[in-house]
Amino acid sequence: MKIAIVSGSHRVQSQSKKVAQFIIKMLKADFPAVESYYLDLGIHPLPEWDESKWENSDDWRTKWSPVSSELTESSAFIAISPEWGGMVPSRLKNFFLLCDQNELAHKPGLIVTVSSGRGGTYPVAELRISSYKNTRLLWIPEQVIIQNVETVLNQPFAATSDADRLIQDRLLYSLRLLVKYGECLSALRNSGVIDHVRFPYGI
Ligand SMILES: Cc1cc2nc3c(=O)[nH]c(=O)nc-3n(C[C@H](O)[C@H](O)[C@H](O)COP(=O)(O)O)c2cc1C
Repeated sequence: MKIAIVSGSHRVQSQSKKVAQFIIKMLKADFPAVESYYLDLGIHPLPEWDESKWENSDDWRTKWSPVSSELTESSAFIAISPEWGGMVPSRLKNFFLLCDQNELAHKPGLIVTVSSGRGGTYPVAELRISSYKNTRLLWIPEQVIIQNVETVLNQPFAATSDADRLIQDRLLYSLRLLVKYGECLSALRNSGVIDHVRFPYGI
């Protein structure tokens, strides 16, 4: 199984990237057979959606197809979003707009949000309300909100405080659930019941 991880911060040296790297290490330790694909939108920004995407122009084929293939091969998805101005950063919103070929459809997704203070709830609400309609991504009921991020997840897997232990435990639990959802939902995707030809867009 492959899991796709997207970090939504625009910053090159972001705390979201630190969290992503921690998650990749945790996945490797707990699920040696699970592969991961990591896309950091701070380091590899994607072009902003424009109408030529619908025409599948050469430019889009070059820039988006490699990402699209990795997502299509993945069975589960993790979105890491910092809270910026109480919102999800625009590169992550753009990413969901680009996923218009069912790359994420009927696959389980885990939301991980990041805040240097006590934020992190707004991006959860925003992702749950606005990112799934056409992508058909299934956010799992668990989510991980990482507050005071500079103080946690700095040393895999040695917790340096109670808060660090709690967040590492919750992260591991959520990853285990995500992997199980990933296994279970492939049966649904192969069931023949999905009809994206008659129903190309959600309502
Ligand atoms: C433009 C901008 C806006 C921010 N707005 C918020 C906010 O609304 N709430 C919050 O808790 N933190 C906010 N922060 C601080 C982030 O929580 C902090 O930068 C954290 O490290 C996560 O972002 P990063 O992944 O880019 O490092 C903001 C940071 C930036 C750069």
